[in-house]
Amino acid sequence: METYLLDWANLLLRWVHVITAIAWIGSSFYFVFLDSSLTPPLDEKLRKEGATGEIWAVHGGGFYHPVKYAVQPPQLPGHLHWFYWESYSTWLSGMALFGVLYAFNASTYLIDKSLMDWSPGAAISVALAFLVVFWMLYDSICQLFAHRKHGEAIVGAGVLLLVCFASWLACHWFAGRAAFLLVGAMMATAMSANVFFWIIPGQKKVIASIQAGQPVDPIHGQRGKQRSVHNTYFTLPVLFAMLSNHYSFAYSHVHNWLILILMMLAGAAIRQFFVLRHGYKLGRNRHPAGYAAVGVAVIVGVIVWLAPAPPVKNATNSIASPAGSTRADGPNDYKSVQSIITQRCLMCHGEAVQMKNVRLDSPALLKQHAQSVYQQVVVTKAMPMNNSTGITDAERAQLAQWFLAGAKVE
Ligand code: HEC
Repeated sequence: METYLLDWANLLLRWVHVITAIAWIGSSFYFVFLDSSLTPPLDEKLRKEGATGEIWAVHGGGFYHPVKYAVQPPQLPGHLHWFYWESYSTWLSGMALFGVLYAFNASTYLIDKSLMDWSPGAAISVALAFLVVFWMLYDSICQLFAHRKHGEAIVGAGVLLLVCFASWLACHWFAGRAAFLLVGAMMATAMSANVFFWIIPGQKKVIASIQAGQPVDPIHGQRGKQRSVHNTYFTLPVLFAMLSNHYSFAYSHVHNWLILILMMLAGAAIRQFFVLRHGYKLGRNRHPAGYAAVGVAVIVGVIVWLAPAPPVKNATNSIASPAGSTRADGPNDYKSVQSIITQRCLMCHGEAVQMKNVRLDSPALLKQHAQSVYQQVVVTKAMPMNNSTGITDAERAQLAQWFLAGAKVE
């Protein structure tokens, strides 16, 4: 019952999280598009009032005419819409999901004993520290170098190095699946913190100055813009990190950290293509196709790199009966498969614990799940989870042979 309710909590939170993230990233993409598509206002009156850009758009049957005042409008309207709940609710639902999934089941999901044999409490604390420490380092880099000569390039390089190092570390400390998610959560936390600690407070200060009739310090706008630009380049990498943790061929690879870094770089390059493309249409940038090409080339490179070796004929047979095997009764009969399942799976899929509602403790149940057992144990090698029960390659091959021979259970 508890697992069942936890699964519901997981599903509903995931649903909310994806919805809020769409709202956040959607509005963020929209404003990035807006900023790179604005043209100087045609109307003299608007220009005199301090308007710096405008765009005409048609959407959903109506015409829209947003106008931008880069520093301040002539007067503040009675109602001003703020964009922050999209970001905060994404972060809050994400943390709740992390709690339900990873903190609750730390020893299953978060910990890979072959990498780091620590207690659930220690692993959870270090995972949370990842989020905080990354933010502090990232924020210091932004503050220290932003206003120096070549500040943007230094900040960009610093943040890139930091993300690479954090990815490497996470993949060496946590189970691959959790590591990918953690890197995504770490960058997404910095994105929300940018909104919470810099963008919104800066806007509040600007408004206070306008209301007090004082000149507006442009630093707030510049800082907000810097963080908002970072957020844009983080979005595609973060989404990759969050989604890829469902694909064991990526996260369970020995060089999973490198796969993560390369795919995130590809994401950032592709985002750059989209950002520049809007301005290109107005003749502002060179054609940004190069960025898209680099992104796609990196992805294709990773696909080729990870491609499984073609199956060798009779491989199953030769692995299934390894030299020195002591099993007397042929390797693919139900008896020996059952003993593998008992040893390697029942602690999580038996009467007491039924992860994902999968029970394998009777012939009928094993038969019922045979297809997905084959999928999980042989094809994706996602099971046993983080190989916590130490299944051997020979045993995987034995399961494969049993399944391919018809998955008999008597
Ligand atoms: C340490 C605990 C653990 C062990 C050991 C383990 N599993 Fe799992 N298993 C899980 C968890 C957790 C899930 C849910 C994974 C998810 O939500 O993606 C799962 C899911 C599954 C699923 C369903 C996958 C799906 O998404 O539909 C199958 C099938 C499965 N396991 C088979 C096995 C087999 C076979 C073994 C033994 C070789 C095994 N598991 C060992 C924890 C474990």
